Amino acid sequence: MKTYKHITVKPITGAMGAEVFDIDLSRDLDPAAWSEIEDAFHRFLVLIFRDQDLTDQQQYDFSARFGPIIPHPYVKGLPDIPEIFQIIREPGESYSWDSYYHSDLMFLERPPLGATLYAKEVPPYGADTAFTNMYLAYETLSDAMKDLLEGLDAENESGDPRKYSNRFQSMEELAKNDAMSATHPVVRVHPVTGRKALFSSLAFTKRFKGMTDKESAPLLEFLYDHSIQAHLGCRLAWQKHSLALWDNRVCLHHAVSDYFGEVAKHRRVMQRATIEGEAPLAARSSAQKAA
Ligand SMILES: [Fe+2]
Repeated sequence: MKTYKHITVKPITGAMGAEVFDIDLSRDLDPAAWSEIEDAFHRFLVLIFRDQDLTDQQQYDFSARFGPIIPHPYVKGLPDIPEIFQIIREPGESYSWDSYYHSDLMFLERPPLGATLYAKEVPPYGADTAFTNMYLAYETLSDAMKDLLEGLDAENESGDPRKYSNRFQSMEELAKNDAMSATHPVVRVHPVTGRKALFSSLAFTKRFKGMTDKESAPLLEFLYDHSIQAHLGCRLAWQKHSLALWDNRVCLHHAVSDYFGEVAKHRRVMQRATIEGEAPLAARSSAQKAA
């Protein structure tokens, strides 16, 4: 286990995720602390920084250290910082945003590098966010399946833009933007770590390029079921003023909608800043490269 000098890191599971303590993200971070956060980010894929009292601008500034912050294409942002938006569930609402495991905005040509999510109001327990490690999803496939997938691209679609806000009392549409789609490799290479990861989710991935929906469905469903196995992931238990940071390129996440009993009585307000990414880099197998 790597030891850090400027942050305290407590892993959540053996697969991914870590809680981070003893760092104040509202302050300027010295280069040594910043390099430890980057190291932990690439090692654990999702970090949750506890006890962060942040203004909207401070969330923006920390997030922007990783890259430009982009608005959500369908959800209205904050009045002063339109790139940041809130995911709000009122007491008694039963719909959950993000109730499928997914990578955010897979339908963009350049899907996000990652995001930060800041807990403004949370129920006293429950409403965790579950994550899964898509490096491990790839690495635990057979060699023959890896070779098959590395030759494939897939088409990822937003679906109806209205679904992002219309079912929620307190979330507003940004504009009447059209549905979007983008074709991406099914296996991508992380630009920093060089590791291969599966990049597919039933939330957005509709078909393999060149195949029909019906031909694609059995394998897409297998990949989804394979990816979300409990031993490949972790769950983040939220506390007020926790800030999560995840690598959207190599993990899927899912809001666990256990809105029953006491949990359903509470308002939940999460605030997201989305970090611009790159066009996914394809991992083609050596056999196909040689062909
Ligand atoms: Fe999401």
